[in-house]
Amino acid sequence: MSKSALIAISILSADFTCLRQQILAAQEAGADWIHVDVMDGRFVPNLTMGPFIVEACRRITDLPLDVHLMVEQPESLLGAFAQAGANTLTVHFETCPHLHRTLQTIRELGCQAGVVLNPGTPATHLDPILHLVDLVLVMSVNPGFSGGVFLPEVLPKVSYLRKRLAERNSDAWLEIDGGMNVQTMPLAWQAGARVFVAASAVFKHPGGIAEGIRKLRECLPE
Ligand code: DX5
Ligand code: ZN
Repeated sequence: MSKSALIAISILSADFTCLRQQILAAQEAGADWIHVDVMDGRFVPNLTMGPFIVEACRRITDLPLDVHLMVEQPESLLGAFAQAGANTLTVHFETCPHLHRTLQTIRELGCQAGVVLNPGTPATHLDPILHLVDLVLVMSVNPGFSGGVFLPEVLPKVSYLRKRLAERNSDAWLEIDGGMNVQTMPLAWQAGARVFVAASAVFKHPGGIAEGIRKLRECLPE
């Protein structure tokens, strides 16, 4: 486990009247990835962004675009998101009856393949497909909104997945999403997460975006 920690800023809490400035401010402050939360109003009770926004982000920044697909039947949208410039496409285990095939398709499209688990889904469900993933994401809130409260009961799943990935000598990223802040991030780090998604802690920080990112960075080891 040699990879150091990355901060993926979720633009769900950004001010969309000035998305460009917000993304560039985060980039300047050392954000590692841009996390785009795609919601369809069906799998989750909220409706957000599509390939159009991913394409706009692609023109704003060269940072990796980490696209989190909270949609039913994500297979039908993978090509459009790949075309729009996504680097990683992450699908929910709960939406993919043909997960093995879906992950292969993502790689065939030239993207990194990610899989994500809701808080109520056991990590053991991923054992059969761990060799096919470049990223595993553990939800630490129920998906649909930013500003949720971290669920500590997901930490054992992070530890379990870290162990399984190490056994396979996998260098897949282990990411956590929801309620990340200076209190919860060290717990997630200790459990084995290495990519930390943050929306509110960055875009709603009273000191501004750069201060939010600096505080998060400070609470992690070098
Ligand atoms: C929730 C999204 C998250 C969300 C995180 O469904 O997947 O990425 O934006 O927001 P915070 O960091 O505010 O919990
Ligand atoms: Zn997300």
